[in-house]
Amino acid sequence: MQALCDRGVKKIPDKYVKPVHDRPSAGNIVLSRHIPIIDMSKVDGDERPTVIQELRRACEEWGIFQVINHDFPESSMQSMMEMAHQFFELPAEKKMQFYRSDPSSGTRYGISYNADKEAILDWRDFLIQPCHPLSDDLVSTWPDIPPSYREIAKKYSMNIRTLALRLLAMLSESLGLYGEYLAGVLKEHEQKMLINHYPPCPQPDLTLGVSGHTDPNIITVLQQDDVGGLQVLRDGLWIAVDPIPNAFVIHMGDQMQIISNGKYPCVEHRAVVNSARTRYSIASFYGPSPDAIICPAPQLIDQDHPPQYLQVMYGDYLRAFWAKGPNKKAYIQSVLMQ
Ligand code: OGA
Ligand code: NI
Repeated sequence: MQALCDRGVKKIPDKYVKPVHDRPSAGNIVLSRHIPIIDMSKVDGDERPTVIQELRRACEEWGIFQVINHDFPESSMQSMMEMAHQFFELPAEKKMQFYRSDPSSGTRYGISYNADKEAILDWRDFLIQPCHPLSDDLVSTWPDIPPSYREIAKKYSMNIRTLALRLLAMLSESLGLYGEYLAGVLKEHEQKMLINHYPPCPQPDLTLGVSGHTDPNIITVLQQDDVGGLQVLRDGLWIAVDPIPNAFVIHMGDQMQIISNGKYPCVEHRAVVNSARTRYSIASFYGPSPDAIICPAPQLIDQDHPPQYLQVMYGDYLRAFWAKGPNKKAYIQSVLMQ
């Protein structure tokens, strides 16, 4: 990826050219419409019922929203973004120490989710690392270049966990479940951090930074820089998620759709690239541990709302999700109740 950009290519290699139906402009018009914004400073006061109501509407109608006034230290957001820049600016051979092609490996630097299975690659490279349960052994698998990387990533992932747990409590309440319900079904919980690096692309109309997909976990907490490029699919249109300084973008993943029995659908999203600026995003995937059994919440099932999804062990779900290769968006169909 870096070599390509350094050589200043004008024409992108064929393996990055997406089929016509999967290009940024294909068929759908991209609009920039307002994605819901949830002000978390209002959650603990008199306005709580209103905020919970707004949250419910955002999840039912969009599957994605941005949070502001979330109490996540801004210094931690900035220093993690700074680490992201420093890591991807390292010489290729330093980053390649962390290269693994198998999507099930732990900490890894990679190009495309599953480079062995994908004929067409995404215009990005990334670093992914497990962050929970956090231990010294786990931290020792993370990059140690730049030297402060581990310390900053550790603080960042603990802050993400705090925010994710607050969000899960609010989401439980918004579904009419008791506050600890969602956190309770995730067993030991799992958290991963993915840093995406999207270099400028000479032909951004022919490719994508990441093709349309849903995230397999329960919620994703995404920090994006000011470049923009994230889009969500709604009513057949791709809609840009405009960056708001210091906000996080929260996505509903596949497990949220299953547990809520379809009330909170997972959101299909993608990232476009541009010819002018490098873009970074830091996605934290929060979800069940592999041994957690996921099924629709019994409290949401009645005669009018029969269960829509089969019970599945999350580890099995993930294995099948990865094995499926690039067309991940349809995987949730395989656990639909017939
Ligand atoms: C992802 C993802 C979007 C972005 O990494 O799963 O959807 O804006 N990223 O980088
Ligand atoms: Ni995603």
